[in-house]
Amino acid sequence: MKNRTFSLLTLFVMALFMSSCFQDKEQVDIYHYTDEELNILSKSLDLPEIRDEYTIKFPKHMRDRGLRPPSINDAKATVGRVLFYDKKLSKNNSISCASCHNQALAFADDKALSDGYEGLKTKRNSLALASVVNFPTYYGGSNSFISGSIVRPRFFWDERAGTVAEQSTMTIQDNIEMGMNLDDLARKVQDVDYYQVLFKKAYGDVPITKEIVLDAVQEFVNSFVSADSKFDHEMDIYGNPEVDFGGFSDLENMGKRLFLENCSSCHSADMSTPVETTANNGLDEEYSDIGLEGFTGNPLDRAKFKVPPLRNIEFSAPYMHDGRFATLEEVVEHYNSGIKNNAHLDSRLRDSNSNPKRLGLTETEKSALVAYMKTFTDNNFLSDKKFSDPFK
Ligand code: HEC
Ligand code: HEC
Repeated sequence: MKNRTFSLLTLFVMALFMSSCFQDKEQVDIYHYTDEELNILSKSLDLPEIRDEYTIKFPKHMRDRGLRPPSINDAKATVGRVLFYDKKLSKNNSISCASCHNQALAFADDKALSDGYEGLKTKRNSLALASVVNFPTYYGGSNSFISGSIVRPRFFWDERAGTVAEQSTMTIQDNIEMGMNLDDLARKVQDVDYYQVLFKKAYGDVPITKEIVLDAVQEFVNSFVSADSKFDHEMDIYGNPEVDFGGFSDLENMGKRLFLENCSSCHSADMSTPVETTANNGLDEEYSDIGLEGFTGNPLDRAKFKVPPLRNIEFSAPYMHDGRFATLEEVVEHYNSGIKNNAHLDSRLRDSNSNPKRLGLTETEKSALVAYMKTFTDNNFLSDKKFSDPFK
């Protein structure tokens, strides 16, 4: 009997001891890399020993509107970052997501059409990813909205993808872009020692499947929130885009007024929630690219394209779905004098006789619009190391 009590007690103590060991081990596993793991990582990657924090902070003016950011898992975003910059995601190891989405260029590139993995051109201009209005999850969790009046943006110029995981599935497998079969990709990733370490931290001891590869890429891209621009700083003070901002020059305030009159009905006034998701802005009389119709099959959607968010627009030239305009000055001249008539031209860009609107802006007014759009630039975002290339 004595013996049995003793052994039960021993068992109990041992169990306690072991469980505390496991707890320690768990903690070490999730939050810290072991020396051995650091050794593996540091051979190829320049990652911080203490993981970067991807938690999204919204500026006051957005919080005041009840907008809440999605929560981001740091370990998942960290693997996603490595994948985003990894050329192994393309069939012949020649390009990565970042080849067409360069951080310094607002996560777009500087070409009208981008170069795919075999040097073939993409059909459309690379979209900037540096924007808060892009992500449906911002409205209080997965696909829900703070109010029914908020429209839900989708991805690509023709909105054919609903999530970044869907978008990445299409891009990675696209014959021009990356040419990579997703099952082959998962196998390619499984064999890499640093991915074994990073995926284990993020997802536990499970096989690296295509689903979790896509999930990690999505976690990283979802963490791209650019809301620390001069515009945001003033909005935090004044809370209302309609009033002149004290921190703006006269030219910037003039540009803001012109923007509110002529542009914000589609591009939005507060730069945080979209007003219109797609529209036709009169680039041509006849469009060779049918845009949204290609996705919805509805002829009324012909030649409508995503209304692109304008955050960091200064750096994502050239502009429009085919990259036809090299500068913001050319874009403004388009809206000022160049809008072409076509059956699908948006009514907001027509005058009272239903003809394409002519704004008749002076040279100063044109420069004012450009100066105002440059206040959407967020230099911290464009240089934040946690979004940069981690490969040595
Ligand atoms: C070969 C160049 C290229 C590569 C590589 C590439 N993209 Fe893109 N990306 C584009 C182009 C071009 C578009 C616009 C295509 C369209 O709308 O039809 C785009 C659009 C997107 C969009 C939609 C943005 C929006 O606002 O609708 C996201 C998100 C995106 N890419 C993320 C990624 C990720 C993640 C990867 C890597 C898995 C990647 N891209 C790889 C060229 C590329
Ligand atoms: C009717 C809605 C609408 C209005 C009003 C409007 N836009 Fe646009 N804007 C769009 C659409 C749609 C596109 C993309 C069109 C395409 O590529 O085919 C676009 C594209 C742009 C782009 C290029 C973005 C990029 O990433 O390539 C800029 C810059 C821009 N608009 C600025 C303005 C300015 C400045 C005004 C006011 C003078 C304005 N827009 C008024 C719908 C609109």
